[in-house]
Amino acid sequence: MCGIVGYIGWREAAPVLVGGLKSLEYRGYDSFGVATGTDSIMVAKRKGRISEQADCVSGCHGTRGIGHTRWATHGLPDDRNAHPHTDCTGQFAIVHNGIIENYAELRRGLEGRCHRFTSDTDSEVIAHLIEEAWEGDFAAAVRAVLPLLEGSYAILAVCAGSDEVIAARERSPLVIGLGDDEFFACSDSTPIVEYTRNIMVLEDGDLVVMRRGAVAVENGGETVVRETTYIDYDIEASRKGGFEHFMLKEIFEQPDVFQQSFRLACTHQGISMLLSRARGVSVIACGTSYNAALLFRYFAEKECGVPVRVDLASEYRYLSTPDDEIVIAVSQSGETADTLSALKKAVASSCPTIAITNVQGSSITRAADHTIYTGAGPEISVAATKSYMGQFAAFVGLLAGMNCSDMSAVERSVRQVIEESLLTDVSEAVSLCAKASTIFYVGRGIFYPVALEGALKMKEISYIHAEGYAAGEIKHGPFALLSEETPAVAVCMPGDGYQSMLGNLREMKARGTPLIGIGYGDDIDLQDVADVCIPVPKGDAYAQVAAVTVIMQRIAYYTALALGQDIDKPRNLAKSVTVE
Ligand code: AGP
Repeated sequence: MCGIVGYIGWREAAPVLVGGLKSLEYRGYDSFGVATGTDSIMVAKRKGRISEQADCVSGCHGTRGIGHTRWATHGLPDDRNAHPHTDCTGQFAIVHNGIIENYAELRRGLEGRCHRFTSDTDSEVIAHLIEEAWEGDFAAAVRAVLPLLEGSYAILAVCAGSDEVIAARERSPLVIGLGDDEFFACSDSTPIVEYTRNIMVLEDGDLVVMRRGAVAVENGGETVVRETTYIDYDIEASRKGGFEHFMLKEIFEQPDVFQQSFRLACTHQGISMLLSRARGVSVIACGTSYNAALLFRYFAEKECGVPVRVDLASEYRYLSTPDDEIVIAVSQSGETADTLSALKKAVASSCPTIAITNVQGSSITRAADHTIYTGAGPEISVAATKSYMGQFAAFVGLLAGMNCSDMSAVERSVRQVIEESLLTDVSEAVSLCAKASTIFYVGRGIFYPVALEGALKMKEISYIHAEGYAAGEIKHGPFALLSEETPAVAVCMPGDGYQSMLGNLREMKARGTPLIGIGYGDDIDLQDVADVCIPVPKGDAYAQVAAVTVIMQRIAYYTALALGQDIDKPRNLAKSVTVE
């Protein structure tokens, strides 16, 4: 995780770095820092968020520099462990995203050779190793250090007395922005698009030397040319637009997101055909993307008869998986390390692979055979909402192709129920939830993944412990926890499993559990058993999933708001999880 940004050109570097780090804060935000200068290196770094204390870099001058916003992996989130890190002499400064797996061994060696460390990070070894390798040529020193590092890295480095910024990448994202007599190096293109849309995506093993007016990429000692891509990015979409939080804005964008993503997926007829003929489909993902993938399983198996397995990407490597399946990797960011390594395992087994992602040019798009983009637009809130809707829509679009059915009526009905669900009153549910320290989310069939997602949203932004369960499973253990103190959010929709669900609710009610029932407004049986009923607009199964999802997102949002939590940047989290 962590976000890094580098600049070399004709502007003052510090404001460019600060602006860049602010837009990369979604990758981590426990501390930040920048290093600028040419003859000598000035470093400013601090615990906390750059958006709240950007003035601390006011002493950093010069037209080149590097910056970092951190999500701690090694060492506490404090001033000492904030990047940039320097060597013993202060000649070199580096920022690093990734994990240096052999740092302990490297550090012992360096300490044995009298290097003094000032942090607990794995990253600091890089600065000391460059110091040792230095023989007057900055690029040569960095080149000599890279083979010593095991693990993953995106590194930016500057050296006092040199007019270069050096970048290197191995299993951590890094892109170069090609401006007018200026260059940018960043974890992703978000900070760059304000200055240039021409982006060069680096590959593993790349080392880039940037000078005013010239950029050179090499890999394995050979000069290489990396393709320049024009990035289509809506800057306006990355602003709050009058909403109090990005999360709320993104929730409200979902009618458009569903439509846009559905239509994009419908253009991939060839992929749908491939899936409909597959012996099996395996979907790999993490977090919210995993929950979206589970939905695909229910729909694809029922409606298309295609067997689908869904695995947590972080577990995929431990599983023995058939090599005749089509593997779909789902990731909003396209950079999630676990999803990327699972995808690479599938590629190594010669499985046909498909990426579903929201980010153009992201790492999974380069690893997979085919890519389907969701049309969610930039998602800034750490808690994923519209990207989940985009993934769901992409799956619905694929299902339309797999079934050879015209689902334009589905598209319209989903859009409509999302719009209605944005206005549904959830205040009574919020009052119940805000008092709780544990909340259960239960559902059956297609509403089981929806319950998982509802619980994930609640826990990550409100910090209330929330668990999603298949309603039938709750008797097998979790019942021991039920009491008047543990509300349950229960999805009870007519259709498959409705009577069993009502039975489960009655059993929970008998244990004193306050029940928030989500179902049709005219369902008197649900009204009988639930303490609070939230009406869902009527529609087909796809519309029901979308509507309940939006209602649950809003319950989580308003509960977190009532508790005064930091909704867009919840503690300890980062949006793009680029470490395994
Ligand atoms: C969602 O609200 C979470 N922030 C998290 O679970 C996220 O979905 C997960 O880290 C996967 O991210 P990805 O979709 O970018 O791969």
